[in-house]
Amino acid sequence: MIIKNNNSKFITLEGIDGAGKSTHLNWLSDHLRRQGKNVLVTREPGGTPLGEALREILLHQAMHLETEALLMFAARREHLDKVIVPALQEGTWVISDRFTDASFAYQGGGRGLNETKLETLEVWVQQDLQPDLTLLFDVPTEVSQQRLSKNTSLDRFEQEKQDFFQRVRDAYLKRAAQFPERIRVIDSGRTLAEIQTDLEHVFSSL
Ligand code: TYD
Repeated sequence: MIIKNNNSKFITLEGIDGAGKSTHLNWLSDHLRRQGKNVLVTREPGGTPLGEALREILLHQAMHLETEALLMFAARREHLDKVIVPALQEGTWVISDRFTDASFAYQGGGRGLNETKLETLEVWVQQDLQPDLTLLFDVPTEVSQQRLSKNTSLDRFEQEKQDFFQRVRDAYLKRAAQFPERIRVIDSGRTLAEIQTDLEHVFSSL
């Protein structure tokens, strides 16, 4: 069992590519720091030197879908050991730009990998540790595709077609319905101000 400090929270941000997650991540970390919290911002795949090396491979090299899932979880194992768990144990708030819900959405929903295999990896790598709160930034794929089309250098995932992102989005929404206590769906088609008001509300009750 992974024991964490009572003062810390583990928050993850999720959503399809082009949902606006990065903008909200910056605002959120500033907001929490203004409230005097010790905040560590990290990301997946990545977050450690080995994890960042795996990220380069994952984002740019073609591979079997199971290899992709195994490398995502390998990077996550390292991330938990070197960054996430030590920070949570010392009372730091950890905000991770993506975590295991992304594996269920992209490798499971997007690529079609069997959910039981993902659940096995999840238990192996993180035991009983789950985020305290997951913000799922949700937009229709037409909106995200339009945002991505303005980007000139797209990685291996971002180059996928709209039907891939539709499956990823559906898998995320299925996770949200499965874990309503943990996952909050944030309608990302609204203005920044509206979303920030919503986030302030979510965090005041955390
Ligand atoms: P992303 O957060 O989109 O990076 P950036 O904002 O810099 O483009 O993450 C990189 C990609 O990794 C994203 O397309 C989703 C994918 N991914 C998975 O497929 N499975 C996972 O378990 C994780 C963590 C990410």
